[in-house]
Amino acid sequence: MARVKNMFFNLFALLGLVNARQAFPGIILDRASEILQSYDYVVVGGGLSGLVVANRLSEDSGTTVLIIEAGGFTENEDWVTIPLITSSNDPAVGHGPIGSKYDWNMTSIPQPELGNRSVNTPAGKVIGGGTVLNGMVFNRGSRADYDRWEALGNPGWNFENLLPYFKKSEIFTPPDLKLEAEGWDIQYNPAYHGEHGHVHSSFAPFVWPSTRNYINAMKELEVPIINDAMGGDATGAYWFTQSVNPENETRSTSQGFYDPSRPNLHLLIGNRVTKAIIESGKVECIEFSAGENATTSSVKVLKEAILSAGALHTPQILLLSGIGETAHLSSLGIETVVDLPGVGANYHDHLLLFIGQTVNVSPNVANFSNQTWTSEQFSLYESEREGPFTTLGGNFFAFLPAGTFSNATALSSAATAQQASHYLSPNTPPTVRAGYEAQFALLTSDISSSTVAYMEFIFGDNTILPALHQPFSRGTVSINSTSPFDNPVIDPRYLSNPLDLALFVAGFEYARKIRGTAAMQEINVTETYPGASVMTSEQIEEFVRGGVSTEHHHSGTASMLPQELGGVVDSKLRLYGVEGLRIVDASIVPMVPAAHLQATLYGIAEKAADLIKSSH
Ligand SMILES: Cc1cc2nc3c(=O)[nH]c(=O)nc-3n(C[C@H](O)[C@H](O)[C@H](O)COP(=O)(O)OP(=O)(O)OC[C@H]3O[C@@H](n4cnc5c(N)ncnc54)[C@H](O)[C@@H]3O)c2cc1C
Ligand SMILES: *[C@@H]1O[C@H](CO)[C@@H](O)[C@H](O)[C@H]1NC(C)=O
Ligand SMILES: *[C@@H]1O[C@H](CO)[C@@H](O)[C@H](O)[C@H]1NC(C)=O
Ligand SMILES: *[C@@H]1O[C@H](CO)[C@@H](O)[C@H](O)[C@H]1NC(C)=O
Ligand SMILES: *[C@@H]1O[C@H](CO)[C@@H](O)[C@H](O)[C@H]1NC(C)=O
Ligand SMILES: *[C@@H]1O[C@H](CO)[C@@H](O)[C@H](O)[C@H]1NC(C)=O
Ligand SMILES: *[C@@H]1O[C@H](CO)[C@@H](O)[C@H](O)[C@H]1NC(C)=O
Ligand SMILES: *[C@@H]1O[C@H](CO)[C@@H](O)[C@H](O)[C@H]1NC(C)=O
Ligand SMILES: *[C@@H]1O[C@H](CO)[C@@H](O)[C@H](O)[C@H]1NC(C)=O
Ligand SMILES: *[C@@H]1O[C@H](CO)[C@@H](O)[C@H](O)[C@H]1NC(C)=O
Repeated sequence: MARVKNMFFNLFALLGLVNARQAFPGIILDRASEILQSYDYVVVGGGLSGLVVANRLSEDSGTTVLIIEAGGFTENEDWVTIPLITSSNDPAVGHGPIGSKYDWNMTSIPQPELGNRSVNTPAGKVIGGGTVLNGMVFNRGSRADYDRWEALGNPGWNFENLLPYFKKSEIFTPPDLKLEAEGWDIQYNPAYHGEHGHVHSSFAPFVWPSTRNYINAMKELEVPIINDAMGGDATGAYWFTQSVNPENETRSTSQGFYDPSRPNLHLLIGNRVTKAIIESGKVECIEFSAGENATTSSVKVLKEAILSAGALHTPQILLLSGIGETAHLSSLGIETVVDLPGVGANYHDHLLLFIGQTVNVSPNVANFSNQTWTSEQFSLYESEREGPFTTLGGNFFAFLPAGTFSNATALSSAATAQQASHYLSPNTPPTVRAGYEAQFALLTSDISSSTVAYMEFIFGDNTILPALHQPFSRGTVSINSTSPFDNPVIDPRYLSNPLDLALFVAGFEYARKIRGTAAMQEINVTETYPGASVMTSEQIEEFVRGGVSTEHHHSGTASMLPQELGGVVDSKLRLYGVEGLRIVDASIVPMVPAAHLQATLYGIAEKAADLIKSSH
């Protein structure tokens, strides 16, 4: 999807399709002098999770809540709101939200297993955080993905318990009748969906014709077609929803959780939290500043501070506050407040691989090179909210167990033969190592499970994208500067465990197998990149190393795990060793589920808000 959309972007600029719409009103403060001296709750980061938590805590009008966000509001630009335009998520594009003023513009440090490439690592610096930049895929993992969290020592964190919170966040809209009339058999089960939340989940009203071939290809390969994968049965192929408001087919973000009419909720924009001040084991204040050379202010925390700065910035704020591994802190001259070696560790992410292809069916995404057709489709979107501008590029994908796309027996023996923490960084602290060993045992045994997905296959006209969903590799987020205005050091250590590369090789070959089905040959699907020059396992490995990029599901850098397993927060999301400090964002996810992350995080944040409320 990504590459072909590159082509459209320049086109849009030429056509002058980018226009700004009205900004968002509300109780928005952008100067430190405007806020109160103290709040019951201070939420750090107004991204996905922070806005959910702030909404639920401020439902009680007697409670005061402040959100501090580094970014500001968008102006509802077309390149932020229109699904087709915005969903490319390709840093090279330059016109979408990735690489724009709403992106922190960070990159990883060079990755040795990727030929020392640095990987672009976009992250939202804007109200709504990643939900303003993301690809709007809205799905949940399998039951087993969440039940693992409980198995790792987090009572109450299982699929059954999370489902009500998933539903609470969602405004679900069933598929349009027009889709049924066109013969698309999209099933859903209302028991798995909510209607009264604040983030939309809806089916795109337009389906590319090649989808029919993908569905048939999956059937041909005996992959189960799941009627509604939101209920925990999510290994197979299925229709997915997008976080799109079906009234006008525009992006739905966590801004839906921000209620500007509440006088007890303040939002300070354009300010960066620099540290938390801990006194006698309790959070006293949150410090923040509008810029490197601006004064630093502080706000007093009466009940709790909630860190929701995302998996890349939350560990940075903890480290700047003296919370982390003592050896790391002292190397920077930071005095240790809490020795917590798990801060910034257990970092893992999903990786995806672009493979190019063409299809011979009309229309398909290659038709965007016809400017007349493209402007017709844009007009259709503007007037009717129909056509390809309403979609991300595909609406149907597969999440497959290892046994479906690879030789699970061979992978199992390779995993079993590994000494569990052999491929971790040699500097990994002992508790983090112990936590990884527990995860490694699950990752190894689930290779033979039919209910845990190891790879995702995203289907489009111009690509089948395999993505690694149960990574064995682990990296770190750390700091190399005491300035809060410098970026954190992002080292995902992608493919550091060779099992990840083996999974990718199998995924690459399976993509070819999909292309080889009679159903796909009906539309003459042809691999154009990398093509016939990449055939042997060694060639595929090189192609993978040169091509993989992040799927943007950074997780685990302040994991919810027992402290002896390298945990940073307990199962109530309370930071070990500090009173009044919780973490609610992707950092706490101890093992990433096989799904795009947003729907999971909305549910986590809903549950977190209940946990916080019930302790006061
Ligand atoms: C390009 C991209 C594409 C994606 N595609 C998908 C997709 O299609 N489907 C899906 O399900 N998921 C997708 N995701 C993932 C999903 O959007 C993220 O997992 C999610 O947004 C993370 O939520 P969070 O609350 O942890 O952090 P975020 O949403 O990132 O929010 C963190 C907030 O904290 C703010 N902040 C950071 N540091 C500070 C500080 N020091 N002081 C004040 N504020 C601070 C940031 O500006 C940001 O607003 C994508 C993500 C990206 C970036
Ligand atoms: C990211 O880079 C782009 C292009 O250089 C720039 O316009 C934008 O302001 C940057 N974003 C931030 C948050 O600095
Ligand atoms: C990557 O960088 C390291 C350290 O600079 C170097 O030793 C190694 O040879 C490089 N690898 C490649 C493939 O360039
Ligand atoms: C879409 O409609 C909603 C109301 O349902 C509105 O709040 C939002 O601003 C609209 N989005 C755009 C980009 O027009
Ligand atoms: C802050 O001040 C220093 C020293 O004067 C200057 O080099 C730097 O560019 C300033 N930073 C910003 C963001 O203005
Ligand atoms: C799409 O492009 C192909 C190849 O140029 C052409 O045959 C087909 O008619 C086009 N479809 C539409 C709807 O324009
Ligand atoms: C380009 O699009 C126009 C409008 O749909 C159509 O009439 C024409 O046949 C298309 N050209 C090609 C080469 O597909
Ligand atoms: C799978 O791997 C096992 C062990 O390496 C091997 O014995 C078996 O032949 C392989 N099966 C297939 C279908 O390749
Ligand atoms: C910190 O790391 C970044 C890469 O993330 C690098 O560009 C920078 O030079 C480093 N700074 C110091 C002080 O080492
Ligand atoms: C199939 O596609 C290839 C590559 O685009 C092309 O060379 C070939 O002619 C096509 N065959 C048919 C039957 O359309």
